[in-house]
Amino acid sequence: MKYAENILETIGNTPLVKINKLTAELPCLVLSKYETFNPGNSVKDRMALQMIEDAEADGRLKPGGTIIEGTSGNTGMGLALAAIIKGYKCIFVMADKQSKEKVDILKAVGAEVEVCPTAVEPTDPRSYYSVSKRLAEETPNSWYVNQYDNPSNCKAHFKSTGPEIWEQTDGKITHFVVGVGTGGTISGVGSYLKMKNPNIKIWGIDTYGSVFKKYHETGIFDENEIYPYVTEGIGEDILPLNVNFSVIDGFTKVTDKDAAVYTQRLSKEEGMFLGNSAGAAIKGVLQLKEHFTKDDVVVVLFHDHGSRYVGKMYNDDWMREMGYID
Ligand SMILES: Cc1ncc(COP(=O)(O)O)c(C=O)c1O
Repeated sequence: MKYAENILETIGNTPLVKINKLTAELPCLVLSKYETFNPGNSVKDRMALQMIEDAEADGRLKPGGTIIEGTSGNTGMGLALAAIIKGYKCIFVMADKQSKEKVDILKAVGAEVEVCPTAVEPTDPRSYYSVSKRLAEETPNSWYVNQYDNPSNCKAHFKSTGPEIWEQTDGKITHFVVGVGTGGTISGVGSYLKMKNPNIKIWGIDTYGSVFKKYHETGIFDENEIYPYVTEGIGEDILPLNVNFSVIDGFTKVTDKDAAVYTQRLSKEEGMFLGNSAGAAIKGVLQLKEHFTKDDVVVVLFHDHGSRYVGKMYNDDWMREMGYID
């Protein structure tokens, strides 16, 4: 018999799937690292488990402890699954722009969820950064995960996602394209791939309303770049320690409208029912067209599953209200 001892053993070893129609105008092979095959339906299962194991190993997380995190949903899901198997409690803090499905899903796996306003400064006591920190101080035997600055986030991708992509492409990958939020995925995968072959180009997908692209290009943290946006999971109004700008060759910004429209197109034209950052990522690949030639092998990573977005990007009434479709 061949079986996993528990659900956590099924994390990783996700497939690489060719994109066919949406990238027909590109000269090269475009493959997607399809992370919804993880048990929590997102890439974040990988780093959630790594962060917990590292915190257990050095005593930050103790038996029966409470895990506290500010999360847009996917990291929370990964943490919650590991917490169930390992016997911890979870309290998650979310911004109110996140879809309601994400809150309900976290509750479904036993977590307590606090929702905070999106449109406040990170330093405001109501922001989700501040509320997570306060809860961690007030809750006995708790551990504040801090996925933004926790090095285990990047390490998980250096140890698993990067090597999988290298092996699955037989070392032929030439470009890696991925949305950037905490930076764990791009920095971990990017560092591993550049270690194997420094010529591989690493491209980040950013949103309008986020600081990454300008900071990468000028070294300036420009507060004028910051304003509320709709795209979920990528872009930031802070510089997380997990974004290693030195392994990133460039960023391209994708509009909220394009990210939403391309999320629908992936589903309807490729049969890939994915989250909003996947739409941003594939549109970003198309925007980078001039960088690709015939023999290139481009890998784009798709972070999460479409089920989290049925009330938004997969709802035509919402799409019309936002002015994204006629
Ligand atoms: C849906 C989605 N896409 C993209 C990202 C960005 O990944 P990373 O945090 O590794 O940069 C996240 C992370 O929060 C996410 O939840």
